[in-house]
Amino acid sequence: MTELKSLIAEKISEIVKNNYGTSPEICDIISAFEYPPDDSMGDLAYPCFKLSPIFRKGPNVIAQTLADQFDCPSVAKAQSVGGYLNFFISDEYYSDKLLKGIIDKGQDYGKTDIGKGQTVVLDYSSPNICKPFHVGHLGSTVIGHSIKKLHEFVGYKCVGVNHLGDWGTQFGKQIYAYKAWGNKELVEKGGVDELVKLYVRFHEEAERNPELNDKARAEFHKLETGDEENLALWKWFVELTIDECNRSYKRLGIEFDSYAGESFYTDKMPEQVQKLKDRGLLKIDNGASIVDLSEYNMPPCLILKSDGSTLYPTRDIAAAVYRHNTYDFAKCIYVTSAQQCLHFQQLFKVIALMGYDFYDKLVHVPYGTISIDGEKLSTRNGNVVLIKDLIDTAVSKVTDIMREKSPDLENLEDVAEQIGVGAVVFYYLMNDRIKDINFVMSEALSFDGNSGPYAQYAYARTCQLLNKVGETEQTKFKITEKPERELLKVLSRFGETVLCAVRDYEPSDVTRYILEVCTAFNRFYHDCPIMSAEDKEVKATRIALTKATKTVLGNALPLICMKTPTKI
Ligand code: ARG
Repeated sequence: MTELKSLIAEKISEIVKNNYGTSPEICDIISAFEYPPDDSMGDLAYPCFKLSPIFRKGPNVIAQTLADQFDCPSVAKAQSVGGYLNFFISDEYYSDKLLKGIIDKGQDYGKTDIGKGQTVVLDYSSPNICKPFHVGHLGSTVIGHSIKKLHEFVGYKCVGVNHLGDWGTQFGKQIYAYKAWGNKELVEKGGVDELVKLYVRFHEEAERNPELNDKARAEFHKLETGDEENLALWKWFVELTIDECNRSYKRLGIEFDSYAGESFYTDKMPEQVQKLKDRGLLKIDNGASIVDLSEYNMPPCLILKSDGSTLYPTRDIAAAVYRHNTYDFAKCIYVTSAQQCLHFQQLFKVIALMGYDFYDKLVHVPYGTISIDGEKLSTRNGNVVLIKDLIDTAVSKVTDIMREKSPDLENLEDVAEQIGVGAVVFYYLMNDRIKDINFVMSEALSFDGNSGPYAQYAYARTCQLLNKVGETEQTKFKITEKPERELLKVLSRFGETVLCAVRDYEPSDVTRYILEVCTAFNRFYHDCPIMSAEDKEVKATRIALTKATKTVLGNALPLICMKTPTKI
């Protein structure tokens, strides 16, 4: 639709100029376009209200003038209604340009190169070492990865960074606990679970015996100063945790380009602390070093504790500078829960105060909380639900459903895995990211609701249909029915939907768009028979529409971390 919008905008601009002497910019005309709520008002509308005060004419009058003089072969009719200029796209444009365009572009359909030559760094997932990989991190993981895919789709070079929480005084406690009560075999077998148990035990024992805190501090100091034994233990803990996360990443189809976590910046912080000092930004407050941000209505940003140890923000300052120097990014995007909004506001402000001109390329993308309802999931480790357990539950339920529905399917287990994982991801990415989510498993798994299985099923249906009807050599198409036109209209909006999702860091734009495609396709499939269509051109058009739907779904689903099984 983008091409047609430009074409129509140019015509509008020409007519406005001829009649009133000047015209709004083409890009402003394009962004003013609206899609009418129902097709009796056409396929595209241009509201004339903003022109009214400029040209001192009623919006109706302007719309009527435009309608009278509008002439473009791609538009069958331009009609003035209530201050709007409504366009009815011609069937030829639908079939010769839109439909053919989708088929010809195939895997490239919807792609643009607005990001060409630019690098985007994405900091996402970023779990904490020795901590369970729980559903609180699911948002960062899938929203982050989807935003990465979206940026790649529009031409950016992307660097996915897993900023592991792998440094800080808590590792002194972990090491102390392991040395005191741990057991190699148990940890090897139990992984992160076992580490968490040790950590919990440390806190219980330290309640009774506060001296343990000093011992933990000493262990961390040893770690910081390169003690071999402690370094080896720490590395082992890091590997164990990454191994565990990797199992979920693999199922979600996620890979990172870098695992440079907080520890990576140990030797890069002194330079930044010095810079803060040199700029006169550091203040001592109760022994700690802070940057006072009261002038900006924010609490102070903590840089060093009173014992001189660094903190989360200190490591983030060093990380931002390092990434800027290493990747020369056009944007550095951080995806975390909304609880960290203040942290990033402070961070970006401090980086600006330090005189780094890239501060305005840093973007925080927050998301809401998740709660899990209606389903009893194993809640090991207190109240948290592990990502792995959530996915396992979904997959096992899908497997049961499929054993009943399609017992003869080859690779039933593989397909059930793809649908189960997809169901979780789709449900998560369906809502505006900032909204809090209540995860309801039965809704996520419903094969006929607004769900991942519903979307994957529609895709599989296009594949199966095309297998059955075979390819068509016919290149002359003829749109005759409303559901065909409606489907094509939705398909034609893919590219601009992606651009909105990129602009707003909002994968849910694509998720909801996918649902629109599926609904339009199902209606078309129901109302417009393919095999029994007698007219050759009509039949070819319907096959082509099925292929175009397959193309759009096949391009769109991976953008929200979904797999595309061809048979369900
Ligand atoms: N590890 C942090 C957490 O779990 C998230 C890190 C986000 N990235 C960053 N550069 N601060 O809350």
